[in-house]
Amino acid sequence: MFGEKIISWYLTNKRDLPWRNTHNPYFIWLSEIILQQTRVSQGLPYYEKFVEKYPTIEDLANAEEEEVLRLWQGLGYYSRGRNLHKTSIFIQNELNGKFPESFKELQKLKGVGKYTAAAIASFAYNETVPAIDGNALRVISRYFEIFEPIDNIKTQNRIFDTSLGLIPKNQAGLYNQAVMELGATICLPKKTQCNNCPVRLECLAFTNKTVEQIPIKEKKIKVTERTLDYIIIEFEDRYWLKKRGEKDIWANMYDFFLDEGNIQNFLEKHQIKDFKLKTHQPFQHLLTHQKLIVNFTMIQCSEQPTIEGGEFYELETIKNLPKPKIIADFFEKTI
Ligand code: ADE
Repeated sequence: MFGEKIISWYLTNKRDLPWRNTHNPYFIWLSEIILQQTRVSQGLPYYEKFVEKYPTIEDLANAEEEEVLRLWQGLGYYSRGRNLHKTSIFIQNELNGKFPESFKELQKLKGVGKYTAAAIASFAYNETVPAIDGNALRVISRYFEIFEPIDNIKTQNRIFDTSLGLIPKNQAGLYNQAVMELGATICLPKKTQCNNCPVRLECLAFTNKTVEQIPIKEKKIKVTERTLDYIIIEFEDRYWLKKRGEKDIWANMYDFFLDEGNIQNFLEKHQIKDFKLKTHQPFQHLLTHQKLIVNFTMIQCSEQPTIEGGEFYELETIKNLPKPKIIADFFEKTI
């Protein structure tokens, strides 16, 4: 009943999105990784760029990591981009280029959890398995008026099991898309559009006027503040950049010199005597768990200093290096 109703609603109301017109598991996987923690409007141009540049998993596997990360630039959560590339190499080399074909096998891939595996298995192969993302948790917890925290694994398992019984025979792909679409356009976190909902009359939260209280969460994300002091070292229109390590945020991307002491120490240590200093307005950058306060100080040197760990690059080269968004923005706005 629930399943049939939302599928019929979906078929007349769905947004036409490119990954909905394919059963190619590689394209579906690509779209799901891009759309993790990213809105459809933001992810769409990235999906199109990736499909055009890497039309097959072999093309992606043969690409350089830096090139992939550059294409990913601006999407955030760069480990997703890196895992995407690593997984394509794994599939190409270890699985003979053949995408896993079941919910169970798909979950063995790096970066592919239960939700993503279910999405791929149902959209590409129509396997009967519910794809439980944030949208599905919200829709189902409201429909059955579940007053249990949806960020608790027990509640998630309960919603998974309940959902399995809601999928109309041989229609798992359509069912999962329909739940997602309902969650993304009608059953919204705030400002719900219940009057346009195809299942409002059976929805327990709607009937009992508890829609705004559900879903319940037990943990609130804690945001910590962190300050980054960047020193931009310039010599003859070239800029010093270093490649970041594997750990911490923005792994393997290029950024400026990170100051840990003060500028005076930096200048003395690197024997920079003839220079101009320019301080820029600090700016803020919000990540899921961190609020970054980023300060930029530019040192324009008249002689080329020697600074370990990085190199001076021409602007043309910098354009093609993968950079955190704040660094790319700095170049775009200031230089
Ligand atoms: N978000 C994540 N996966 C999606 C999909 N397949 N369609 C629309 N939005 C999504």
